[in-house]
Amino acid sequence: MTLKKYNVQPLFAIPYMRADLSHAITPEQVEFIQNLKMVPNQTNLISENLYIFEEPELKSIKEAVQHALDTYASEVMGIPQKLYVTQSWSLINEPGQGMHGHAHSNSIVSGSLYYAPLPNPPSKMVFDKHTAYRQLVLNPLKEKQNIYNTPLNVVEPKDHEILMFPSELTHQVEPNMSKERRYSIAFNAFVKGTLGDFRDVSQLTL
Ligand SMILES: [Fe+2]
Repeated sequence: MTLKKYNVQPLFAIPYMRADLSHAITPEQVEFIQNLKMVPNQTNLISENLYIFEEPELKSIKEAVQHALDTYASEVMGIPQKLYVTQSWSLINEPGQGMHGHAHSNSIVSGSLYYAPLPNPPSKMVFDKHTAYRQLVLNPLKEKQNIYNTPLNVVEPKDHEILMFPSELTHQVEPNMSKERRYSIAFNAFVKGTLGDFRDVSQLTL
């Protein structure tokens, strides 16, 4: 017999945030980023420059990303400290290329910016709930899958959108099934300000 009356409530949840940054990206900037020197990454291409937001040509994009990070810090994380971009780089996934599962070290929030039109299909971002090897794999039945029990969740990016998520989350990018290149920017962000408490001797000023 199945229990008739019961309820299920969330204890914790992992957020991601998305926002449209089309207002901050010019055609000249798209061209500038697409013309950056690229070098082979594990499975795709990555810019040789790993601090691209420091380029004066990308000033308005850097400012818009900062604005999005400010919102993430205050509204998503609810913290008084500030987030700032550490490294930033561009990526190209040629047709057939995806990106293996990975997480971002020494970073609190990571993000992607789809600065140029995405190919069709756009290759989704696949997030993995588990960050370590699982001795016991108890995956839900497909028809019973929900936000509580799913081992992965998928986000379909949109043109000119920024997507931000906790850096420790393992994520991968589906192989590019289109005939065109898939362009994106990625970045890491860390925290600045004072953490902890003076009397508690847990104070840390970054
Ligand atoms: Fe990543």
